[in-house]
Amino acid sequence: MTKLANIDWGNLGFSYIKTDFRYVSNWKDGKWDEGKLVTDNKLTISEGSTALHYGQQCFEGLKAYRTKNGDIQLFRPYENAKRINNSAQRLLMPEIPEEKFIDAILQVVRANEAYVPPYGTGGTLYIRPLLIGVGDNIGVGPASEYLFCVFCIPVGPYYKGGMKPVNYTVSDYDRAAPYGTGMAKVGGNYAASLYSHELARKSGFADCIYLDPTTHTKIEEVGAANFFGITKDDEFVTPQSPSILPSITKYSLLYLAKEFLHLKVAERDVLIDNLDEFKEAGACGTAAVITPIGGIQYKDKLHVFHSETEVGPVTQKLYDTLCGIQFGDLEAPGGWILKV
Ligand code: PLP
Ligand code: COI
Repeated sequence: MTKLANIDWGNLGFSYIKTDFRYVSNWKDGKWDEGKLVTDNKLTISEGSTALHYGQQCFEGLKAYRTKNGDIQLFRPYENAKRINNSAQRLLMPEIPEEKFIDAILQVVRANEAYVPPYGTGGTLYIRPLLIGVGDNIGVGPASEYLFCVFCIPVGPYYKGGMKPVNYTVSDYDRAAPYGTGMAKVGGNYAASLYSHELARKSGFADCIYLDPTTHTKIEEVGAANFFGITKDDEFVTPQSPSILPSITKYSLLYLAKEFLHLKVAERDVLIDNLDEFKEAGACGTAAVITPIGGIQYKDKLHVFHSETEVGPVTQKLYDTLCGIQFGDLEAPGGWILKV
């Protein structure tokens, strides 16, 4: 157990911290058990678990936010419930009923309430639901049993320094195949990204950008986040492709850009050879929130958008609007917030 008194709320990074309770539920003989909170952070599973051999697993990521008056709230958790079930379907895993998914999250956040960072520190409680194939198996096929667990960790910014521009380099490798599992949040996509990530880090970049796996001409993902750009005539643009993870943050920004900032919006191809069309660019996701992209290294040229050190005005407005809603300072569109 991590001593709460030792947590420096204003200087959290994105690292594992053991909190007090996690939720586990088992699926066997065609049904889920009731599920319960436990204190042990170790899972004991069969050596024949398909998650270990064949990557039959998927996960989610969402956050709980402390508001100014001390309440705790979740941002669009029903979207995570939908997405984990899309991922589960893709890998032939049993679905988790929406009520069960939401109940598990509420139980975990309430039980670990003391770990939700105070309002104003910038910290949040990151929640990680995980669905894995377990049981005694060996042939390539869906597992006989499944485990659904949810744990949580207080976190700060995913990239050191928070809301400040970082540079990315374009990877020569793909994280997913054209009609593979790119749109599902499955561990295999992340295993495939580790090597490119390491190469990017070693070359001094925050992370790498993946191009479309068919033609390598269009931007798809920015590390573990989606891409957006603001064109010179103020259009919010984000790529569309079957191998991109449908980011809940991205769809939220598409809505906020249109309805709150009154920008034109489009989901369309973003050509790596046409970065000049954008005056600002960013990465967006639950962990990344909005991370401004200073520049993108492609072949031997670094293309700088707004600035390598300053945040662009549209990116800043999007960030303020999104975070304002997430932390309860701005009124959220209907159904976006669930109070804990
Ligand atoms: N793309 C990838 C590959 C991710 O891992 C994530 C993180 O969840 C995202 C995009 C952003 O998705 P979301 O905004 O739903 O967190
Ligand atoms: C998230 O933003 O929730 C992610 O899953 C990104 C990464 C930590 C895998």
